[in-house]
Amino acid sequence: MESIIISGGNSLSGTIECSGSKNASLPILALSILTSNLEIKNIPNLADVKSMLNLLNSLGVHHSYVNKNNKSNILLENSNKISSLAEYDLVRKMRASFLVLGPLLTRNGFARVSLPGGCAIGLRPVDLHIFAMKKLGADIELIDGYVIAKAIKGKLIGNKIIFPQVSVGATENAIMAAIFARGETLIENAAREPEVQDLCNCLISMGVKIDGVGSSTIYIEGVNSLNKVSYNVISDRIEACSFIIAAAITKSNLVIKNINLDHIQSFLIVMKSMGLKFKAQEKSIEVFESGDLNPIDLKTSAYPGFPTDMQAQIVTLACFSNGDSEVKENIFENRFMHIPELNRLGANITIEGNRAIIRGKSSFVGAEVMATDLRASVSLILAGLAAKGTTKVNRVYHLDRGYEKIDEKLSSCGANIYRKKNEKP
Ligand code: UD1
Repeated sequence: MESIIISGGNSLSGTIECSGSKNASLPILALSILTSNLEIKNIPNLADVKSMLNLLNSLGVHHSYVNKNNKSNILLENSNKISSLAEYDLVRKMRASFLVLGPLLTRNGFARVSLPGGCAIGLRPVDLHIFAMKKLGADIELIDGYVIAKAIKGKLIGNKIIFPQVSVGATENAIMAAIFARGETLIENAAREPEVQDLCNCLISMGVKIDGVGSSTIYIEGVNSLNKVSYNVISDRIEACSFIIAAAITKSNLVIKNINLDHIQSFLIVMKSMGLKFKAQEKSIEVFESGDLNPIDLKTSAYPGFPTDMQAQIVTLACFSNGDSEVKENIFENRFMHIPELNRLGANITIEGNRAIIRGKSSFVGAEVMATDLRASVSLILAGLAAKGTTKVNRVYHLDRGYEKIDEKLSSCGANIYRKKNEKP
C-alpha cells in the first residue's frame, strides 16, 4: 500500500493541465459493447478506467492503445460476440461497472450483472436503473446478488421513462438501453450533468438521433447499428475545481488549463462570493493570490447546482475563511467521512444531520490521516498542502481511482509532495 507525504506551506506557481473526465469516460467506454470498433481519446489513466477495461475484456471487448507511450487514446474492438455475464469480482471494484447493464440488455436481449455492493458514501441503490430497464420492456429478477434482466419481447421497446428522482448513472443506463430498442424513448427528469451530455454527444457522432441534450427531457430514436467513430471525451471538471482550491488554499498564483468553463459555473460563483481573485479565459483559469476568503453557505445539488463531488474540497477551504460556514450535503447521506480526519489536522467542524458547520480561521498542523473515499482523499491532500509540517495520507488507492498523477502535477508546481510505498507489516 502507498501513502502520500506532504510537507505543507509551499506556495504553488506555474501551470497544471487537467486530464480527461473519469465520469464521462466510464459510460463512453461501455458503449464499446454496442459497436465492433470505437476509438476514444483523452481517457485518463486511472484505476477506475482500468476496472472498466477489465470488465469489458471479460465480456469480449479488447482494448489497445493507439500510441504505446500514451494511454489516453484507446481503441476498443470486439468480434461481435459479447458475453451477457458481468461477474461479481469485476463489478464489486467499482459501482460504475453497473453501467454495462443497459448496453448488454439492448444488445443481447439478456444480461446477468452483479449488484455493485457496498459503498462508503451512502446506500447508493440501483432501483432507478432497474425501473428504467423495466419501462423499456425488461423482466428483472434479483437472484444470488445478480440482476437477471431479459427483454420480454426478445428486444427492448422504446417508451417514456419518468424518473421519480434524478440519477446520473440511471439516466446513462437508460440512454444506452434505448439505443437498440425498437422505436423512440423519452426520458423525463433526466440528469443534466456534462458527463451525461458527453455520452449523448458521442452517440450522436455515432449516428443516433438524440434531442434535448443537457436538458431534463431527452428523446432518443433507436437504431440498428452504430457508426465507427473516434471521440474525444471532455476534460474533468472536478479535477479542475480541485486544483482551483489547491491554488486558493495555498494562496498561490496558478494557471489551470484544459477546462470547460461552462461546466464549472456554479463552482466559480461560489469562488467569486468567497473573494477569490481569478481570471477565466477560453479554456483556462488563472488564480491569483488572494487575501482572506469569505465564509460560505451552500448546498450540493444535481447539475447545474453545486456538485457533491466538490463538497469535501470546499469544506476544507472553508476552514481557512474569515468566518463560520455551512455546507449542506443533499445527494449522498454519508458523505462527511473526511470531517473527522480534517478535525484531526486542526479543523473545527461539527456535523448536524446533513449539515457541516465549519468554524473559520483554522490553522492546520500535519498528521497521519486516512482517505475513506475518492473525494475525501483529495480533500486531505488539499489540507496537507495548507498544513504546517508533514501530513501522511494513507489508503491513496482511493485517490488513484479518480485523479491522474495528482502528486506529480502538484509537485511540478512547487508542492512538496511525494508517494511512499509502505513496508508490509
Ligand atoms: C455519479 C458520479 C459520482 C457523483 C454522482 C452525483 C459517476 C461514475 N459517478 O454517481 O461521482 O457523485 O453521480 O453527482 O458518474 N440513487 C437511488 N437509486 C438509484 C440510483 C441512485 O436512490 O438507482 C440515489 C443515490 O443513492 C444518490 C442519488 O440518487 O443519493 C444520486 O446518485 P446518482 O446520480 O445515481 O450517482 P451515480 O450515478 O452513482
